[in-house]
Amino acid sequence: MPASSGSTVGATTEAHPGFALGLGLTNECNLSCSFCYRDPSRVDRLSLDQVRSVIDKIPVRSVNLGTGENGLHPEFLNIVGYLREQPLKLTMTSNGYSVQCVPDAQLAAFKDIEFSLDYPTEAEQDAQRGPGNWALLHEQAARCKRLGVPVTFISVMMQANFDRLAEVAEVAKAYDAPLRINVYQSVQSDTYALTYEQYWTAFETLFAKTDVIAIGEPLVRAMAGLPPRTGGCGVATVRVTPRATVQPCVYWTGKGAALDVLLEAGSAVVDSEPFEKARSVPKACESCVHLAACRGGCAGRRRLLGALESPDPYCPIIRGDNRKLSIRMAPSRDLPKLESACTTIVIARG
Ligand SMILES: C[S@@+](CC[C@H](N)C(=O)[O-])C[C@H]1O[C@@H](n2cnc3c(N)ncnc32)[C@H](O)[C@@H]1O
Ligand code: SF4
Ligand code: SF4
Repeated sequence: MPASSGSTVGATTEAHPGFALGLGLTNECNLSCSFCYRDPSRVDRLSLDQVRSVIDKIPVRSVNLGTGENGLHPEFLNIVGYLREQPLKLTMTSNGYSVQCVPDAQLAAFKDIEFSLDYPTEAEQDAQRGPGNWALLHEQAARCKRLGVPVTFISVMMQANFDRLAEVAEVAKAYDAPLRINVYQSVQSDTYALTYEQYWTAFETLFAKTDVIAIGEPLVRAMAGLPPRTGGCGVATVRVTPRATVQPCVYWTGKGAALDVLLEAGSAVVDSEPFEKARSVPKACESCVHLAACRGGCAGRRRLLGALESPDPYCPIIRGDNRKLSIRMAPSRDLPKLESACTTIVIARG
């Protein structure tokens, strides 16, 4: 076992605080959202043995089930049964379908369930995701609340909704739930990508009506004047895809390293090239006053654009633009996915 992986297995250690592990048990989905990053051209699944081998090899603080709808995996409940016995925080991101597949007793083992909600109205949500999605989400979110399982809502910030996310946060507030926001990433196409103006207008509009729980999106963190964060991409997050490959970030395109690389290297996987690249800082950023908090912005986005060596395309400093963001912090909450990469978590005011 490499020195950096510590002495215990499958639990956090003094030597390593534990990874935030993103597991995609399958890329299958009951829906086919046009903005989705998953590869719908083939079906891949992780086996229970593969999941077990990862948990046995690296210290894991939290596991989030994502990528597709995990409930479509034939071994889904067995794998949840295994994960809930491990000393880690188990969470899942879902359109509602997979939550419906989990019996009450097993659902109670989740530390957070994230429901994808991109619009504040049923008509808009169902037009994007499919008929009945709004109703299913609300039915399952209410069930989670009844069972005492914390709920978060999660939106993709994109062209069609960039100025509506404070309204989505209002919908979430009915469950006393935060809203987690990921900026659209052009994995399959750039159809939904925000323009520079939309990106900054979106955050200004959002922060005018919501309180901030956490900001991991590097540029936003820097322009809001928050201090550098610990962990993040290339350091404390690992993704294992349904294809049994390992990535530093969910939007890291390409095939990725084989799972065996992780199983051999353990925690030292962060010394491998993709993780190093995810931590890389563009030369043009070296003298920037925001370097410590921003570090060049989102490396996944830079790489998707084929411009890993350049500052984030949404960088205002490079353009000589002043984009100071005014934020109000919410009382802190214990959210299992706080450490998760380039993301922003808010809660509606009032
Ligand atoms: C791929 S889905 C998997 C879980 C589940 N099927 C769902 O939709 O919540 C995980 C999250 O990624 C978001 N997402 C999908 N494509 C994206 C993209 N291109 N950029 C940013 N987020 C995206 C989804 O909206 C969802 O919130
Ligand atoms: S429900 Fe989730 S995994 Fe399925 S297509 Fe939509 S965003 Fe992708
Ligand atoms: S110059 Fe680089 S470090 Fe500075 S704000 Fe822009 S992307 Fe971030």
